[in-house]
Amino acid sequence: MAAKRICVFPGDGVGPEVVREAVAVLRTLSEVAGRRMFETEEALLGGASYDVHAVPMTPRALKLAKEADAVLLGAVGGPKWDVLPFAVRPERALLGIRKELGLFANLRPAVVFAPLIDASPLRRELVEGIDLMVVRELTGGIYFGEPRGVRMIDGVETGINTEIYTRPEIERVARVAFELARKRSRKVTSVDKANVLEATELWRKVVAEVGAKEYPDVVLSHMLVDNCAMQLIRWPRQFDVIVTTNLFGDILTDEASMITGSIGMLPSASLGGKVGLYEPIHGSAPDIAGKGVANPLATILSVAMMLKYSFDMTAEAAWIEEAVERVLADGYRTVDIYREGEGKKVGTTEMGDRVRDAVRKLSQKR
Ligand code: IPM
Ligand code: MG
Repeated sequence: MAAKRICVFPGDGVGPEVVREAVAVLRTLSEVAGRRMFETEEALLGGASYDVHAVPMTPRALKLAKEADAVLLGAVGGPKWDVLPFAVRPERALLGIRKELGLFANLRPAVVFAPLIDASPLRRELVEGIDLMVVRELTGGIYFGEPRGVRMIDGVETGINTEIYTRPEIERVARVAFELARKRSRKVTSVDKANVLEATELWRKVVAEVGAKEYPDVVLSHMLVDNCAMQLIRWPRQFDVIVTTNLFGDILTDEASMITGSIGMLPSASLGGKVGLYEPIHGSAPDIAGKGVANPLATILSVAMMLKYSFDMTAEAAWIEEAVERVLADGYRTVDIYREGEGKKVGTTEMGDRVRDAVRKLSQKR
């Protein structure tokens, strides 16, 4: 089997540090398989690209991504580039690549690892056994809607963004959620603001129709986003698959990540096009960048998602997930999940090393 080609965008801030550990996990898999399973090629994206090329994404970087079998991304952005004109800010590269690759479905699982239950700010009885999947629409909605911009209207400075969803956009992401639900506990919660926003009134209607027509075996319920934000804290176990719009998904997944203890733990997969993109849901964390303390587990778990969703390598994906669980059970903690007096505080590289050791051990047991 030919080696899978992975386009790697380390990005900005802690991105390069966490991506390095995840790429090293891929090398470990090749090593235990005794053959080269992956070929990686790196390119700049975001602020790192701007600093060199004066644009956050070059045509070459985009081409590399399009021609790869999968894309691994760290994070983009940072205060250094916040002063730039909107069009060349690092975030434009991320949104641009999602759009260019047609990645309309963003899967963000929030799973609580048993050894981390006490790292959650919520009480143990609330978070035990949490395993939910947010399907966030990723190439539409207010993130991309036109008209947009800041301009003078009747002599008044005015900022405009447009929430817009078409029926086909809603149908396709709803199907992704229903299909996932069929492999889980056949339960979908669609989250909207149908009582105020017409675009999401349509959202609710279309999701309901797709559900009734194509997935009568899946139990569908609808929830308003403000209520959902509250329910995620009050009783998170009521959720299994959540499907929602781009903006609501952005917000709710940051919230969901804290249920699991740290945003440094949550991976994501962006699917829908030919090439899948995998990235941690956390940002570039400029405050801790370069210090070697960032948690690499979200990026390492993103690689596990890549193996599962892009390459159908379920055994290898399971080793990685299990390796992470073991390392946590053995007490290793990066600073974001460390609690005074419990476990061993380690940096980014050591956490990566521990995971790779565990992967090696697990692979020998097969
Ligand atoms: C995310 C991030 C991005 C988003 C930013 C960096 C543009 O917050 O992936 O959740 O809003 O989609
Ligand atoms: Mg976000």
